[in-house]
Amino acid sequence: MIDPAAFCEEAVARLRHDVPGKVIVAASGGIDSTTAALLTEQALGDRARSIFVDTGLLRAGEVARVSEFFRASGLTFEVVPAAERFLKVLDGVADPEEKRRRIGETFIRLFEAEADRFGTDRLVQGTIAPDWIESGGALRDTIKTHHNVGGLPKDMRLKLVEPLRDLYKDEVRAVARHLGIPAAERQPFPGPGLAVRVSGPVTADRVRQVRVANAIVEEEVERAVAAGTLGRPWQYFAVLLPVRTVGVTGDNRVHGAAVSVRIVESVDAMTATAMEVPRALLARISERITRELTGEVVRVLYDVTDKPPATIEWE
Ligand code: XMP
Repeated sequence: MIDPAAFCEEAVARLRHDVPGKVIVAASGGIDSTTAALLTEQALGDRARSIFVDTGLLRAGEVARVSEFFRASGLTFEVVPAAERFLKVLDGVADPEEKRRRIGETFIRLFEAEADRFGTDRLVQGTIAPDWIESGGALRDTIKTHHNVGGLPKDMRLKLVEPLRDLYKDEVRAVARHLGIPAAERQPFPGPGLAVRVSGPVTADRVRQVRVANAIVEEEVERAVAAGTLGRPWQYFAVLLPVRTVGVTGDNRVHGAAVSVRIVESVDAMTATAMEVPRALLARISERITRELTGEVVRVLYDVTDKPPATIEWE
């Protein structure tokens, strides 16, 4: 484990050395990029501009929540609305790697435009060690293309600055705590957002459905954690599956979708264990999802697979 104070001092010095002019920062609201953004702001002051992109693939209430989180962290930031643009490039795309490629490309084109406006060609990202290890390199197979690594277009004009690239998740959390970032215990959320929680084709409608289901899983798990009936999981979320299944609503048979609930324990996301959770919690989640998405989702499953052999996300 690193010494957070020493790491921050070194990272700030390195940023000042590596970035002679201005820089923009890709801030997703996650712990990694918020930590990278704060370090950059400490190093460069108003020569740094942090940008939060509203991709339309965010969780319910996320823009407001992230804005509040940045304010509480003391970060200066700007929100760029881009929901329509992302949903358009993803419409009907089902292949997980193709989703990541398109999302990565759309992010970079947006950041290139923002960088031009701000007068820089440098972009700070909160990439951490598992992101590039899992994205494959000379000696590794690609497990998944993390959108902020392998998903980058080849002709990208921006030079990347990655102050956290040697850290693991628990080390980033220690650094975040040291910087006074609040609620550092918040669960990780993948950069490609709900697009990788919609297994199969992405459509605005399917993104809406998984957003509703995901909010229910988060609310119910957090309620159970607060009540002391569940330890805090590493991650807990819903995935909309690409199957049609038969259900009954009132007197009618409906052909609807299925949702998988994933609740895992982990230390650094490199391995994970499907959590043993109270049956009553799952029953409540299932009841709410099928009621709040009546006629749309008719079946709820619990994913009992560890990582490996599965990954944490479905895609
Ligand atoms: P997996 O699914 O590979 O995920 O076991 C490991 C951790 O990384 C998150 N994750 C991502 N984060 N871009 C990200 O920024 C991505 O493309 C991505 N894919 C997975 C995942 O939520 C878990 O915490």
